[in-house]
Amino acid sequence: MTATHDLDLPPGVQPTPLALLMLGRASDPRSERGVECPGDLPSPSDPDLVARARAAKERLGDRVFILGHHYQRDEVIDFADVTGDSFKLAREAAARPGASYIVFCGVHFMAESADILTSDDQQVILPDLAAGCSMADMATSEQVEECWDVLADAGIADVTVPVSYMNSSADIKAFTGRNGGTICTSSNAERALNWAFEQGEKVLFLPDQHLGRNTAVLEMGLTLDDCVLYNPHKPGGGLTREQLRAAKMILWRGHCSVHGRFDVASVEDVRARIPGVNVLVHPECRHEVVQAADYVGSTEYIINTLDAAEPGSAWAIGTELNLVRRVAAAHPDKQVVFLDKTVCFCSTMNRIDLPHLVWTLESLADGNVVNRIRVDAETEKFAKVALDRMLALP
Ligand code: 13P
Ligand code: SF4
Repeated sequence: MTATHDLDLPPGVQPTPLALLMLGRASDPRSERGVECPGDLPSPSDPDLVARARAAKERLGDRVFILGHHYQRDEVIDFADVTGDSFKLAREAAARPGASYIVFCGVHFMAESADILTSDDQQVILPDLAAGCSMADMATSEQVEECWDVLADAGIADVTVPVSYMNSSADIKAFTGRNGGTICTSSNAERALNWAFEQGEKVLFLPDQHLGRNTAVLEMGLTLDDCVLYNPHKPGGGLTREQLRAAKMILWRGHCSVHGRFDVASVEDVRARIPGVNVLVHPECRHEVVQAADYVGSTEYIINTLDAAEPGSAWAIGTELNLVRRVAAAHPDKQVVFLDKTVCFCSTMNRIDLPHLVWTLESLADGNVVNRIRVDAETEKFAKVALDRMLALP
C-alpha cells in the first residue's frame, strides 16, 4: 500500500510514493515500529496548534526540555530547545539533570538512549510511539546472540569487539556493553573503531553495514577484502569459518532505506547538471556513493560544512529531505540541492508532527505522562556501559 504527499518541491523533483506502515496497537518495546499512538490527538487543521504548543510549553517551564533531531519537520524543530545529530542529542539529554520531562523529537532508539543516560526520576517521552527506525529493527537481540555463538564456534568471539551504531535497540546496546564493546554514531565511528582495534583483533559492526564499511575502508585504511557481510537470515551468517577468521570487520547486513536510495547515477547526474558542484553525503549511503562524493559526514557535519562554505558555491546533499530543505533556506547565497530527483523523507521521523507535540505537551502540563520510553534496569545497566564508553572516547 502506498500514499503520495503534496509537497512544496523544487522544479524537476517528483514526489515518491511512501510506504504506509502497518500499525499495531500501543507500545512494543521489542520493535522500533509497528505501533500506533494511542492518544486523542488534536486535528492537524486546528489553526491554534502553534499557540497551543507555545502555551503548554510555557506552562511546563523548566520542567520540560525538548530535543529535536535534524530530520524533524520544521513545525516541530521550531519548538526544540536544542537541535542536533544523534551524538549531540545524547550528550544534551545527559546534561539536563534538572528537567523532569525530556521530550525527544526523533526516533525510538534515540529516546531509549536518552532514558538510559538520564536519571531514574526523569521521564523521556516520544511524541509518537510509531516513530521507529527500520535499520534498528534489522538486528534483533536473538539474531545478535546467535551471531555471537557463530563467532564463538569459529573461535573468534574472544578477539572480536562489538561496535554498535546508535541506531539500534537498547537490547543490542546492552549486548554490546556486556561483551566489551562500544556504541558509535556517524560523527565518531572512526574514533570508536580505533578504540575497538586497540581492544581486540576484529570488530563486529552492527547494524549498518554501510557506516561500518565506509569508516573501515575510507578512514581506517582497511580494504574491502578485510570486510565480510554477516546475513542474520542465513545459517552461520552465510559465511564459512575461514571467511570469519580471515576478516577484520564483520559487518551486519543492515542498512537505512532512506540513504539507500541514493546511487552513483544521482551523483553523476548532479555533476552534469551543476558544474563544480560539491557532493556531500551521509555515511549511511552505499560505499560507491560515498566514494563518488566529495565529502561525507553526520547531519551535524553537513550543517557545519554548509555554514563554512563560500558564498556562491554549489552543493548537492545526500541525506534526509527535511534537513536539506532547512540548510538550503539558511543559505540563500549558496546553491543547495537535494542529491536525488525523488523525494526522500524518513517516514518515521516525519511521524512526529505538531498535533503529536501539542498532545504530548498539553498532557504533560495537565500532569498526565504519555508515551514514556522506559528501558528496564538490567538492559539499562549494560547499555549504559556501552554508551558511556562512547561518551568517553578520546
Ligand atoms: P546522525 O547521527 O547523523 O544524526 O544520523 C542519525 C540518523 O538516523 C541518520 O539516518
Ligand atoms: Fe533510521 Fe534511516 Fe530514518 Fe535514520 S533516516 S531514523 S537510519 S530509517
